[in-house]
Amino acid sequence: MLDEQRATIGRLGVDARIIGVVTRRHGRVYSPRGVDATMVADMVERGDCIGSPGASATPRSPGSAAAFIRDVTARRAAAARQGRLVVIETTPLDIARGQPAIGHVRAALDGGAHVITANKGPAAFAYRSLARAAERANRRFLFEGAVMDGVPIFNLVRETLPAVTITGFRGVVNSTTNYILTAMERGERFDAALASMQRAGIAEADPSFDVDGWDAAAKTAALANVLLDARLTPASVGREGIADITPQRIAAARAAGCRVKLIASAERRGGTVRARVCPVNVPADDLLAGLEGQQNAIVFQTDLLSEIAIVQRGSGLTQTAYALLSDLVAIGRPTGSVRRQGHP
Ligand SMILES: NC(=O)c1ccc[n+]([C@@H]2O[C@H](COP(=O)([O-])OP(=O)(O)OC[C@H]3O[C@@H](n4cnc5c(N)ncnc54)[C@H](OP(=O)(O)O)[C@@H]3O)[C@@H](O)[C@H]2O)c1
Repeated sequence: MLDEQRATIGRLGVDARIIGVVTRRHGRVYSPRGVDATMVADMVERGDCIGSPGASATPRSPGSAAAFIRDVTARRAAAARQGRLVVIETTPLDIARGQPAIGHVRAALDGGAHVITANKGPAAFAYRSLARAAERANRRFLFEGAVMDGVPIFNLVRETLPAVTITGFRGVVNSTTNYILTAMERGERFDAALASMQRAGIAEADPSFDVDGWDAAAKTAALANVLLDARLTPASVGREGIADITPQRIAAARAAGCRVKLIASAERRGGTVRARVCPVNVPADDLLAGLEGQQNAIVFQTDLLSEIAIVQRGSGLTQTAYALLSDLVAIGRPTGSVRRQGHP
């Protein structure tokens, strides 16, 4: 996407090249002149080691990616000092502690780099301390892809809602579970619907992350920490998944004019924020009841604008890549530049 959108982001005053890539099992590569991302992706696809053509992928010791980040930020210290170095972190979520992503974010900020992540862990486990570290380092810590891919959620609030206080939210934030629930309404079996989400690469590698509500709980913690100034972790979000939802429950909800949805919600009351993820019978005229298949939406409660909703009708890798690109543009765009609307 960086290559494909080069002209578009160039018009926004942003130019970027990839100078290093580190993985867990597929090696690492560093080249100050620029890394050919397509070639790297092809090598990973073949199971090769990216640093050494022809070599097979091998496991690396934990922490070696953080060491790579420290090494590269030290080598590129001049670019880091000028705020021209960005680390993009896309490791899988560790639901117990948010690592190693949190360590990668810290290593990036310590080295003077801005950091972008699509991983929910950093905001779900350590938002406050990482945001503070970024502020101290005068660098950005952005994570738009952590919730609803590239659909602006954190951006929306940060960039367009000055002086508005978010007091709560509720939403459907997990595509796999919404797909299963709507498929069951059509008479499909739970297992068959889950299997098609796995085949499509949408379900997490361990589907219990989706089905038991962990993915939604991590997103809820991230949203609450950032938008409601909460101090939650995924484990402190009340959580009930959809594993026990039966065709009978779906049919009874339909008969009562409702649809069963896995609802993520949080609310600030005085000094405390309560958050939960659980299946709810949502009345048919509620916006969230209208979500089909993999669609997601969040409704924010605000002090000055009443309710605001944002809906995601399509999801996939392009949308996730866009989340990373939009964060990169937010970092790289010259300050004070005016955004051009429409097509050039
Ligand atoms: N896929 C989506 O649509 C989507 C949407 C929104 C957010 N996200 C989030 O984005 C992140 C990445 O998702 P993905 O689907 O791209 O995952 P993925 O296909 O599993 O890729 C993860 C990458 O991280 C590398 N990695 C894992 N552990 C590492 C470690 N300790 N040190 C260095 N590299 C490590 C892996 O290297 P190896 O290949 O060598 O193991 C691999 O390149 C996740 O946090 C996910 O929740 C994904």
